[in-house]
Amino acid sequence: MSKIMESVFKRAKTCDKHIVLAEGEELRIINAAKEIVKRDIARITLIGDAKIIESKAGKLKNINIINPHTCEKTADYINLLYETRKAKGLTLEQAERLALNPLYFATLMLKNGDADGMVAGSINSTGDVMRPALQIIKTKPGVNTVSSCFVMCMPEDRPGFGQNGVLVFGDCAVMPNPNAQQLADIAIASADSGVKIAGIDPKVALLSFSTKGSAKHELVDKVVEATKILKEKAPHLVCDGELQADAALDAAVGRLKAPNSCVAGQANVLIFPDLQAGNIGYKLVQRIANAEAVGPICQGMAKPVNDLSRGCSVEDIIGVVDITALQCD
Ligand code: ACO
Repeated sequence: MSKIMESVFKRAKTCDKHIVLAEGEELRIINAAKEIVKRDIARITLIGDAKIIESKAGKLKNINIINPHTCEKTADYINLLYETRKAKGLTLEQAERLALNPLYFATLMLKNGDADGMVAGSINSTGDVMRPALQIIKTKPGVNTVSSCFVMCMPEDRPGFGQNGVLVFGDCAVMPNPNAQQLADIAIASADSGVKIAGIDPKVALLSFSTKGSAKHELVDKVVEATKILKEKAPHLVCDGELQADAALDAAVGRLKAPNSCVAGQANVLIFPDLQAGNIGYKLVQRIANAEAVGPICQGMAKPVNDLSRGCSVEDIIGVVDITALQCD
């Protein structure tokens, strides 16, 4: 296990948060829940039918199970969903049906203050997990964009990148084509996740195929504009752009291409111009450099919701629950 995840595990234990797992009938989720409670990391509610869950895993100790079809709060949640979304055209009948969907039900629990965080995605797509959260939980006050980041932990023989081999990449999983304003939001949120989850001192690079005007293109203009907005919105953040990845990461190249930059050559938070670049970028580093990729960590939401990969292991689920606990205020 990486040092980052060791530290995340230790810190999550002290938070004493209540996390709802929407896919409570999935065996990996049940096994993760058992382990989380055994290790005293968080309090857990599984959404599902107790009979089905216990037929798979036996009697569960100290784990709350809620079936949306029999829960006494379901009527409140239907009302909450209807009130939250009626202006968007949601009918009461639609709310009654949707609230029974475990992903919506868990999101409504969170919205209602009956859980501190939510995790799903072991058997559902990113879109299906994120959509209810985007519609119901929405963004933190003062934040307009929900995005995500990965904490990338380089193998021990490559400590020279980022802060002792730890970097944050954003956005690699949520926002397909951010505009300049949204890119600045992603940078602020990723720096914040870097502090909260990875314990780094953020130095943020907005990446491009151009460094400081070396290329002219509308795609570069977006990154230049985002850097300007970022510097205005977060004047205390150490940030710079537009930078190519080598100028951001390599001290010699940084000195050559961007000699006056406060970030070039020492960046530890890399902001990709769009989701194609971000998603491809993190997977390349993960596969080719054998880096550990912790995430995606969802950021900017009013309450923490995190998405699992469908290929996730029990240990992966435990890791995401720990991160979610750390994100709870
Ligand atoms: N930030 C804030 N609000 C948002 C965001 C965002 N990033 N995206 C959507 N919303 C809001 C919308 O304004 C809308 O609000 P409203 O209904 O109150 O007006 C609501 O959320 C729903 O918006 P839709 O556009 O209908 O949402 P949609 O489901 O189409 O898109 C989603 C959201 C699912 C996150 C989409 O952007 C998406 O599919 N992203 C890519 C996910 C993905 O496939 N990632 C790669 C795989 S993950 C991996 O490899 C690790």
